[in-house]
Amino acid sequence: MEIVTIVGARPQFIKAAPVSRALQRAGIEERILHTGQHYDSNMSAVFFGELLLPKPAHQLEVGSGHHGQQTGRMLEQIEAILLERTPDAVLVYGDTNSTLAGALAAAKLNLPVIHVEAGLRSYNRTMPEEINRVMTDHLSALLFCPTKASRENLAREGVVQGVHLVGDVMLDAALMFGELAEKHGTLDSCLPGDPDRLILCTIHRSQNTDDEGRLREILEGLAELAHDAEVLFPVHPRTRARLAGAGFPELPPRVRLLEPFPFFTMIQALRRADVVVTDSGGVQKEAYFHGTPCVTVRSETEWVETVEAGWNQLVAADRRAMVEAVRAARPGKGVIEEYGKGTSAEEIAAILVRSGIAAGSK
Ligand code: UD1
Repeated sequence: MEIVTIVGARPQFIKAAPVSRALQRAGIEERILHTGQHYDSNMSAVFFGELLLPKPAHQLEVGSGHHGQQTGRMLEQIEAILLERTPDAVLVYGDTNSTLAGALAAAKLNLPVIHVEAGLRSYNRTMPEEINRVMTDHLSALLFCPTKASRENLAREGVVQGVHLVGDVMLDAALMFGELAEKHGTLDSCLPGDPDRLILCTIHRSQNTDDEGRLREILEGLAELAHDAEVLFPVHPRTRARLAGAGFPELPPRVRLLEPFPFFTMIQALRRADVVVTDSGGVQKEAYFHGTPCVTVRSETEWVETVEAGWNQLVAADRRAMVEAVRAARPGKGVIEEYGKGTSAEEIAAILVRSGIAAGSK
């Protein structure tokens, strides 16, 4: 059984780490195809090194571009590789343009698509990720859902065949690398001593970065929060480009604009922070995994359980709302059982072996 796994963006490298290991243990041969959607060393190569991911067998180097252009470039090149390899199945993660390109190329060649992190919905079609998810789910033969809500979302769309609730592979990654992170993370070099109060911030969604008014509100909120806290802000390249472009107010020195963190340093920061402020999907949950309350600067979330369990608050990109939410943030009470016990990747590998997805696909 040979699977071609398609990755391209930072969160996919993290999800692939536990899954690739589990596939290997189950005797499934995997070839990794890296689309090159993320290409800066600190957005890509660093993760392959830390997470001990197998070296990609194929590197496409598609780079940045408009959505259609970037996805189109991937589609053409992925198809050529799949035609040459004729794998038994193609595995994709999450909701990026790399996910959609991989799923579409495979489905058109009648290769079974395996979607890890299936069924998530924000019900906001202005998000490129929402379009990618819906399309990918409807092209997939095996769908691995992280939560009950995601399985219900699929059922509402009539997708019930091949659906498995397995928990969240991001939890597997958090547990797998927690100890190594404390040993090898470099957070201390980003921190001035041991601050009384620490806020960790990541902002990269196009809805926030590409709207000058929203981005300004977020920055002003961070500036205000820095009155009584140190704010660590590892800046995604998209956000850095926006910050360089427009005349934003200068931030106080306690808002530290840093290069994107490697995964180990990120884990340390998530653990050490008093509150996390983010618009990332993954970081909302990672904050919970590491016991830190989160404020999410978005009007909706795919990870509704984090809000229900009291670990996460949604706020508008509004300075006042953000500051109030951060000051009010406390650890939640609930434990979110459905994310699993850190064995989701093993379960996925076992289901793949049982499913005999290889049969008849060549
Ligand atoms: C992508 C995903 C998003 C995911 C995020 C994680 C889509 C539609 N979005 O968003 O769901 O949460 O990855 O980070 O696929 N850039 C660089 N170097 C890099 C990567 C990006 O300079 O290594 C810059 C480029 O200017 C690029 C911009 O960032 O145009 C945006 O990158 P892109 O991959 O298109 O989207 P992300 O915002 O990273």
